[in-house]
Amino acid sequence: MKWKIGNVEIENQVVFAPMAGVSNISYRTIIKEMGAGLLYSEMVSSMGITYNSQKTIDLINESERPISIQIFGSDVNSFVESAKYIEKNFHPDIIDINMGCPVPKVAVKSQAGSALLKNPDKIKEVVSAVVKAVNIPVTVKIRSGWNTINAVEVAKKIEEAGAKAIAIHARTRAQGYSGKADWNIIKEVKEAVNIPVIGNGDIKSCLDAKKMLEETNCDAIMIGRATLGNPWIIKECVEFLDTGKKIEEPTNKEKIDMIKKHYELLKKYSNSKVALLEIRTHALWYLKGIPNIKEYKEALVKTNTEADFQNVLEQIYNHL
Ligand SMILES: Cc1cc2nc3c(=O)[nH]c(=O)nc-3n(C[C@H](O)[C@H](O)[C@H](O)COP(=O)(O)O)c2cc1C
Repeated sequence: MKWKIGNVEIENQVVFAPMAGVSNISYRTIIKEMGAGLLYSEMVSSMGITYNSQKTIDLINESERPISIQIFGSDVNSFVESAKYIEKNFHPDIIDINMGCPVPKVAVKSQAGSALLKNPDKIKEVVSAVVKAVNIPVTVKIRSGWNTINAVEVAKKIEEAGAKAIAIHARTRAQGYSGKADWNIIKEVKEAVNIPVIGNGDIKSCLDAKKMLEETNCDAIMIGRATLGNPWIIKECVEFLDTGKKIEEPTNKEKIDMIKKHYELLKKYSNSKVALLEIRTHALWYLKGIPNIKEYKEALVKTNTEADFQNVLEQIYNHL
């Protein structure tokens, strides 16, 4: 089903989550090919952009559109300046503000990410200022709360401030990634605001995707961790929500082919050392669940050159 964030049309209800270290241009390319309706970038520091010390933001491929670039920070002025800078230099379709990151370095030390949830008035100030500063839609990604749940209050402030959508990961900051996401909070937020709500947390299959849409009435669902090693879940959800039919699962050989493709994309967009480090991590995710390849996996993570990596991968392929 099509929907909109501001004037940005989105083809379907399957959204790829922002994940630091994962949602870079290489993986986004794969996820887009799987048919995701909307992509988020990894979060980028608004302070870093303002002071020009941040590693450059990934490029955006035209084929990835619509895409949202996510910023995090705590200082209103840095949010405003970085949003303007990103709009001018990177031309994303949407700017998203991170109010969900639980990582101590971000949330405690810098009072950014989910720390903002402690101060709904500041949220309104930040969102209003960014909305005024740019011409593209601004959205916010939140959690259920910091220690206690205050997502409804926060969501109302975000709407009042002029944001065009809210994504909510249905866990508090205190919960981190443990326990079960409480989708009731998504429902409550959806009932409280008139802007689109993207539900997030613990979607592991197309059945979960449908269930979240039905139970919470949210406008779209966002998938993060379940894509690790399984970008096909995006396609599975898109197809299932559209037709009610399940696609075939990838074969083990297709998984190896995907590792090769992913590696090529990483090499295209980053230096060879970084590409190898990243593909070694992703490879283990792709290979999870394939029986009798333990020793190959151990060898794979120890590889230090592209040739060695490709060689072990070939051995796994032949072993399957
Ligand atoms: C490795 C990793 C990195 C993440 N980085 C970000 C981030 O940069 N910005 C953000 O808003 N959320 C980030 N998240 C949270 C996810 O976007 C998502 O809200 C969370 O994983 C719950 O969804 P899931 O159950 O589908 O994974 C990250 C999660 C993981 C696992």
